[in-house]
Amino acid sequence: MLPPLLRLKLDFMNDRPIGIFDSGIGGLTVLREITRLLPREETIYLGDTARVPYGNKSRETVTRYSIETADFLLKYDIKLLVVACNTASAYALGALKERLDIPVVGVIEPGAKMAIASTRVKRVGVIGTEGTMKSGAYFDAIKAVDPTVVVFMQSCPLFVPLVEEGWTDNDAALLTAGKYLVKLKGEGIDVLVLGCTHYPLLKRTIAKVMGEEVRLIDSALATALEVESVLKSTNLMREELREKTETPARPRFFVTDSPERFTRVGKKFFNEGPIQAELVSVEA
Ligand code: DGL
Repeated sequence: MLPPLLRLKLDFMNDRPIGIFDSGIGGLTVLREITRLLPREETIYLGDTARVPYGNKSRETVTRYSIETADFLLKYDIKLLVVACNTASAYALGALKERLDIPVVGVIEPGAKMAIASTRVKRVGVIGTEGTMKSGAYFDAIKAVDPTVVVFMQSCPLFVPLVEEGWTDNDAALLTAGKYLVKLKGEGIDVLVLGCTHYPLLKRTIAKVMGEEVRLIDSALATALEVESVLKSTNLMREELREKTETPARPRFFVTDSPERFTRVGKKFFNEGPIQAELVSVEA
């Protein structure tokens, strides 16, 4: 427990960290955008590498995992929680918002809103894990804002292992993307939402398949912008001008398995500094 006066000071400065969790490594794409946009914010990242992937698991399991990972981060007195995993956002955001008394930001609504703002022909494609597609969360989020937008969805389960293997720009990636996206390509969409943490790394290959006329929406970037706006509107932004010489904050990393793999593979996702993860257990 912190002494009350120090607690008050920390609160006043809004120095408490932002907590970010993902099923594993992919959420580092979201962390990267947050640290670029908000370099003064302290961040704590938890990758549930022992139980990844979430993308092919049931709503019940993903919700239980998400609650356990959020509970772990709450011990660090976080001021805002970012659910960086699309599947966890799709299945568990409601349960987390109900349970937590701090702001909770998921990746789906920001991506959906950016897609609506970008489409001219009102035909939007969304790709993601099986779970995210099955949940219909992107469909609902888009329709809630603009019911006239037509939404097309496609799950791409092989994209996650391809990216983790580093195969983002080779023949295997192009062939796989070609197979998954062939139907979407025929739907006349002008916007495609990359609805999974790993997909920003496949942007070039996906763009090659979809063609120049289809704009790709990176939900990691959209989420970072949403985090900034929530911090501003709730007066939780870290005081900016306190120490002008202050160096950007360094994230703290936790994983539930294989920290060395997290460091090795994580470099592809996060190039804003070293990744040294601490091994923890989050199971209730
Ligand atoms: N983080 C997951 C997502 O964005 C992808 C990896 C997984 O299936 O756990 O949906």
